[in-house]
Amino acid sequence: MNIVIAEDYDQMSRIAADTIAECVRALPDCVLGLATGSTPIGTYACLVDDCAAGKVDFSDITTFNLDEYVGLTPDHDQSYRYFMNEHLFDHVNIDKARTHVPDGSDPDAEAVCSAYDEAIFDAGGIDLQLLGLGHNGHIGFNEPADAFPVGTHIVDLTERTIQANSRLFDDASQVPRQAYTMGIGTIMGARAVLVVVSGEDKAATVKAAFQGPVRPEVPASVLQLHPNCTVVCDKAAASQLTQA
Ligand code: F6R
Repeated sequence: MNIVIAEDYDQMSRIAADTIAECVRALPDCVLGLATGSTPIGTYACLVDDCAAGKVDFSDITTFNLDEYVGLTPDHDQSYRYFMNEHLFDHVNIDKARTHVPDGSDPDAEAVCSAYDEAIFDAGGIDLQLLGLGHNGHIGFNEPADAFPVGTHIVDLTERTIQANSRLFDDASQVPRQAYTMGIGTIMGARAVLVVVSGEDKAATVKAAFQGPVRPEVPASVLQLHPNCTVVCDKAAASQLTQA
């Protein structure tokens, strides 16, 4: 595992965007795994700038997002599909027909999840998977558990996540209770993984995930076993790491 320490959020975003752009330049029809959340917003902004400047061409790539809320339609402003359109897809030369986000409006979990894994397989697997890191060590919506879930599956959101999300909805009853997420096996199957982490509030999680024991109670710790995983942290997020 390669840990890169950036000066601040902006530098972290630039390094992550350069890594993604490099992958697309080397393999113009690559398959990218993408994440939502606040951390990758700066990375996507850099990629939008790079695309406008002609430094990267997204026209042949395919994307698969990590997760989506169950019960939200793609046009709901809190859906992850909406987020991706707003922060990346609407501003670059990507073919939206080749962008995939689990269909949260379809309640048939088994069908949605198996179709998603099949689509990833049919696309040849993921070349580079971008991840954020949850405060409890989650990746995607793979929350701390007593085992690592393998494939795409439906999860019940924790009370903490529901509470945290309620600020974004008109009232708490509208906050989704479930999500579809890639599993740990799906994520570990990516040929390369890139994790972005920012802020002092994530420092203890970074330490536990990347310098602690590998265990499903800290889902991101499994990334220590990935053969090609880079973590880009800003200084604040890296502040509890000890030098190797
Ligand atoms: C997003 C996702 C989540 C986030 C994580 C960190 O698609 O799957 O695991 O990456 O919750 O979120 P932020 O970046 O908002 O701190």
